[in-house]
Amino acid sequence: MTPAATPAAVVCGIGGSLPETVVSNDDLAAELDTSDEWIRVRTGIAQRHVIKPGEATSDLAVAAGRRALDSARAQDGTADDAIDLVVLATSTPDHPCPATAPLVAQRLGLGGVAAFDVSAVCTGFVYALATAASMLTAGTARRALVIGADTFSTILDPGDRTTRAIFGDGAGAVVLRAGDAAEPGALLGFDLGSDGAGAEMITVRAGGSRQRSTGQPAPDGDQWFSMEGRPVFTEAVLNMSKSAQELIDRVGWTAEGPDRVVAHQANVRILRAVGDQLGLDEQQIVVNLDRVGNTVAGSIPLALVDALASGGLRPGHRVLLTGFGGGLTWGSTALVWPELATAPHPVHV
Ligand code: UT7
Repeated sequence: MTPAATPAAVVCGIGGSLPETVVSNDDLAAELDTSDEWIRVRTGIAQRHVIKPGEATSDLAVAAGRRALDSARAQDGTADDAIDLVVLATSTPDHPCPATAPLVAQRLGLGGVAAFDVSAVCTGFVYALATAASMLTAGTARRALVIGADTFSTILDPGDRTTRAIFGDGAGAVVLRAGDAAEPGALLGFDLGSDGAGAEMITVRAGGSRQRSTGQPAPDGDQWFSMEGRPVFTEAVLNMSKSAQELIDRVGWTAEGPDRVVAHQANVRILRAVGDQLGLDEQQIVVNLDRVGNTVAGSIPLALVDALASGGLRPGHRVLLTGFGGGLTWGSTALVWPELATAPHPVHV
């Protein structure tokens, strides 16, 4: 007798999108008290992409979503109208209300599907994957488009050299279908966590119900994004390493370990430290932040797209995804990378 199948969400398409405009470290140094050397040495970042005035998060989300749908259609021949769920991870929605996902679904021509946003800052994509995967395995949906998209350039303090150096805009997306845990591409489990005691470390203080809009600019630049870099660095290393190890043990990769770790791209020194904690070699840690910076919810799927394009990530690789961000939040998932029918599209809008 064959064993009963274990329901799982299976990755069957992927795509990414970056805005056209590139801001180099030298561009930043021309307007702020910083240097290419400081940014490269302290973060590993050489450039980031930013949207133009008039562009918004949904524009990147639609472009990434379109590429993921194309990739999935080429993979298994399933038409876009089979999508019955859109989950968008973002903390820079087009508007504080309503959610951006319904607009993205409509612009992609997906009809009246379930669509909502997930807010977990840089962990958003992992949380969105977990949400969609749970709905697929419960039978609430059959095929989901999961997007991570952010445009932090719209909420950064123009005078803050630290956050301006790190963050960039971007989006990545995957298509998930209901399938079986034994298939390549199946998401094998999740480890998710949070610590609200660290909420102040990564925040936009004004504009919500706690410090509501008054019609005037908020005092002390409170309308801008702010981050306590040092403690966030420490928490990022600690929580991504712990969460990744927890998941490695849970999915039974304790002996062989993952072939590739795709961790949230915030700082190359964080990535190296996580690699050290997990006992991995440098080539096992995917890095693309040098070209895109920290794209928040877009970070993990964009790093996947990049690693596929460069050949650093191949079918059959045991891949661990791990994220950390505001909330504080963290989370990890794992999969054996599947054969996808098409090479990912070039990454720009
Ligand atoms: O995505 C969510 C998770 N986010 C992260 O994981 C980010 C984690 N944090 C970091 O990556 C790092 O803490 C930063 C890159 C943000 C900052 O690097 P750091 O090595 O921790 O620098 P620091 O904040 O301790 O600042 C050291 C010095 C300070 O000067 P003084 O006080 O020593 O004179 C800063 O003012 O570096 C200065 N500094 C800069 N100098 C030139 C900070 N930013 C810059 C800059 N250019 N862009």
